Amino acid sequence: MSSLLHDAAPDFTQPIAVLKHCHGRIRKQLATLEKLLEHLPQHGADEQARQAAGAVLRYFEKAAHLHHDDEEQDLIPMLRATAQGEDAAILQALAPTILQDHKDMDALWQDLHEQLTAIAEGTSTTLSDSAVRRFVASYTAHMEREESTMAPMAMRLFSPEQMARLGQAMQLRRGIAAPAAPLSPALGQAVADLRKDYGQASLDEADVLDDPIMQFTAWFEQALKAEVNEPNAMSLSTVAANGRPSSRIVLVKQFDARGFSWYTNYDSKKGADLRDNSYAALLFFWSELERQVRIEGRVERTAPDESDRYFRSRPLKSRLSAIASRQSAPIASRAQLEQNYDVVAQGAGEDPARPDNWGGYRLIPERIEFWQGRRSRFHDRIVYERQEDGSWARQRLQP
Ligand SMILES: Cc1cc2nc3c(=O)[nH]c(=O)nc-3n(C[C@H](O)[C@H](O)[C@H](O)COP(=O)(O)O)c2cc1C
Repeated sequence: MSSLLHDAAPDFTQPIAVLKHCHGRIRKQLATLEKLLEHLPQHGADEQARQAAGAVLRYFEKAAHLHHDDEEQDLIPMLRATAQGEDAAILQALAPTILQDHKDMDALWQDLHEQLTAIAEGTSTTLSDSAVRRFVASYTAHMEREESTMAPMAMRLFSPEQMARLGQAMQLRRGIAAPAAPLSPALGQAVADLRKDYGQASLDEADVLDDPIMQFTAWFEQALKAEVNEPNAMSLSTVAANGRPSSRIVLVKQFDARGFSWYTNYDSKKGADLRDNSYAALLFFWSELERQVRIEGRVERTAPDESDRYFRSRPLKSRLSAIASRQSAPIASRAQLEQNYDVVAQGAGEDPARPDNWGGYRLIPERIEFWQGRRSRFHDRIVYERQEDGSWARQRLQP
């Protein structure tokens, strides 16, 4: 019980204690490495040796790098920004040594990495005594350097806000969501200050084409030419029967006078929404051109033979994925999903038929707005609305 308590890792509200705890774990791995040196000549790469080698490998391949990144990318820069006078002088002398230590230890690790991999796989019993000794000595001296100077300096100098920032950065690095806490005032201000002024182009009533589909085609061609990232990716918003909207990205596969189409699973969440409410909205954002296009209208399914043609044009693996996945339904694990795919792949042959629940939708536009970013938020907006006789009326909207 007491050892459990002793071993419990501190949480990220105490980032320096977390770093120190990491040192404890590094020391354990180093001790395992030394034991392995003694174990191998007597027992060879037995189960125990393979497991020990695997554990050391896993730790130094991942956790140790994260620990070095914590120091290089957050702790040392924060100390540099904070330390003054004598502290700043100590840091100036110490930081390059710490950074050099990391490089040296990485180089020493490379030698051990190969040997430990072979031991973990049971194909070798070779572990270089001198490589282990140098690695252990180098890490031990390094940790002592940090524990005697950098850690106490951070504890003395960092404000609670800096500690919180350091802890959050370390959590992010490990893919752990930071606890829901208000943004620090500095970060909150930084988010609020994120702004870009637009000024590449303008959009004038006189420039736009009478037909919004033609206008869209012209902009789409410009997006292709400008090599914008995923020009055919659009956000599709649907509204469920209970009135709640939801959005996701899909790829436009065709657009013409009939509308804008994409392909998906008819039993998905979006499929269910569209069954209950056939109105939807599409949004293209071509950031590189400072443009967005908003399209609204009613959605219908594409004709079965059109869906068949598109289904057949897809790579075989994508067709099999479409058959194997009950899109939007929960599943226990990735392994289960892949098992379902394998079952489908085994029985499907080279030309699987399109499943009935997979196909195209087409949004028939009633309203299309073209938006061009302009300086100081004085943007251009031209909106087209379909009239009862099928023609389009257009007008400028205020930004
Ligand atoms: C770039 C990108 C392209 C995508 N294209 C499609 C697509 O064409 N069809 C599709 O069903 N899902 C596509 N997805 C996945 C959807 O965003 C979404 O996860 C999926 O359709 C399930 O949505 P739903 O549960 O709301 O129905 C795409 C996602 C991204 C990020």
